[in-house]
Amino acid sequence: MRVHVADHPLVAHKLTVLREADTPSPTFRQLTEELVTLLAYEATREIAVESVSITTPVAPTVGVHLQEPRPLVVPILRAGLGMLEGMTRLLPTAEVGFLGLQRNEETFEAITYANRLPDDLSGRQCYVLDPMLATGGTLVAAIDYLLERGASHVTCVTLLCAPEGLKVVEQAIGERADVTIVTASIDERLNSKGYIVPGLGDAGDRLYG
Ligand code: PRP
Repeated sequence: MRVHVADHPLVAHKLTVLREADTPSPTFRQLTEELVTLLAYEATREIAVESVSITTPVAPTVGVHLQEPRPLVVPILRAGLGMLEGMTRLLPTAEVGFLGLQRNEETFEAITYANRLPDDLSGRQCYVLDPMLATGGTLVAAIDYLLERGASHVTCVTLLCAPEGLKVVEQAIGERADVTIVTASIDERLNSKGYIVPGLGDAGDRLYG
């Protein structure tokens, strides 16, 4: 598993405003979209392209198009929905699948309440969106759903990760697939309630509560 922390002053600035407890919900939503667009640029660095011949108004040349089959973007409801617009701004032709997962706040187990993914993901590049990787249970469940359907390349875009959760995902995935995590920050730790510290609180509540 590869982990890429986006090192850019605009990412750091937007994340700082997101973390502030008194940032209101409309600003939080707007900043989440902007931040995801910056992270999407990093996350799609290895997107599959193919050469194509074109003609400009001046001369023929060779460029690239995105390869078929088109990529799949999977926001994890609810909080991941706040990242969808920022991602599809860069990937407007992507197909979108949905996973609804909610963490049990006592056992930290991820419970699935919605699954609308294409049946066959062989050869598809998949992008999972979830702002928080805390204990890792949610992301492991989401990646498993994709691998079961034949996905072989999964890139997860998160705003924040806890070191504990990153270890859990790495152990669970092992050598089974090519998984990359792109994030704005690896924070210090989890607290006893499974919240990321310093974190930004409950992303779902701050987006939609
Ligand atoms: C939060 C967050 C992640 C998950 C991370 O969602 O958006 O999906 O918890 O926790 P984990 O790494 O410990 O599994 P939550 O379950 O609160 O649902 P929500 O998005 O509907 O608020």
